[in-house]
Amino acid sequence: MAGFTDTAFRIICIRSGAAFVFTEMISAEAITRGNKKTFDLLQRGREERFWGIQLFGSDAGVIAKAISIIRSADPSVIDLNCGCSVPKVVKTGSGAALLRNPGKLYSIVLAMTESTDIPVSVKIRSGWDAASVNFPEVGKAAEEAGASALMFHPRTKSQGFSGKASWKQIASLKKYLKIPVIGSGDIFSRKDADKMFKETSADGVLIARGAIGNPFIFDKKYNDQKPDYNHILYTALEHVKTAVRYKGEYRACRDLRKHITAYSKGLPESASFRNRIVHASSLKDYEKIIKEYAARLNSLKLSSADFMCLS
Ligand SMILES: Cc1cc2nc3c(=O)[nH]c(=O)nc-3n(C[C@H](O)[C@H](O)[C@H](O)COP(=O)(O)O)c2cc1C
Repeated sequence: MAGFTDTAFRIICIRSGAAFVFTEMISAEAITRGNKKTFDLLQRGREERFWGIQLFGSDAGVIAKAISIIRSADPSVIDLNCGCSVPKVVKTGSGAALLRNPGKLYSIVLAMTESTDIPVSVKIRSGWDAASVNFPEVGKAAEEAGASALMFHPRTKSQGFSGKASWKQIASLKKYLKIPVIGSGDIFSRKDADKMFKETSADGVLIARGAIGNPFIFDKKYNDQKPDYNHILYTALEHVKTAVRYKGEYRACRDLRKHITAYSKGLPESASFRNRIVHASSLKDYEKIIKEYAARLNSLKLSSADFMCLS
């Protein structure tokens, strides 16, 4: 997830039990230009035994060149983004724009698979809009070009994140392709994940929004119950410290606000916690605010019935 799955968040998800993680989408073009900020996105955490790097771009030669550069980061998988609907990306012919041109998508994926022995996966949506739903054609093009797996978020580009993801489309793509199909869309609990496996026969599932502020979704032990708020806030603090270690205090503290506010969702008196967090600008600020909030919650002496309503 662009803007979210940086090194620290990936590490926190792995510690909670995530089996595999991907970087934010990374511009192939910026890699080939040696853009420093883009290279920062390629920081691999010590806990990341396996990791996927996701690239976006619209030029097969540039993407192949970017692959030769990112080899040294030792990705377990390289994914091509063909789903991003952000105008800035689409107008360059990248992301979801590739859904409109399966021939081009084929030639990019072919250039990728011919330039590396690292497995290549492709992330798609259902199509550009309701009138041009073409995921079978696009999926087949990726498979024929040598992709090892298909990641599928079954909404059209025009839908953005509105409506419901069509899990039926995942089931139908799974039947149509020989390569593994990994389903994405609207998994906010372990129960949802089980349901997607059952309804689609997908080979794997992706969790995106459901992990923001809730890496516990990956932890079997909690089985969709929220952990004790002390553990939630302890994890939030670990997240802060890990981000500072990898990004430096200034950048980490700015980027962390959206994560740390999300941890407090559903907790008592969370609005005032969030109001304080959005002004935090140093590690000390975060530590102070999180610890004071934990002390406040402890002083409320919540009963186990209160915990039930937190989940
Ligand atoms: C903030 C945000 C950033 C995202 N960035 C990416 C990205 O960089 N690459 C990608 O393939 N999908 C990206 N997605 C899409 C998700 O991977 C996923 O397919 C979609 O959110 C549906 O899954 P969910 O219901 O679990 O969130 C992003 C989604 C969100 C909400």
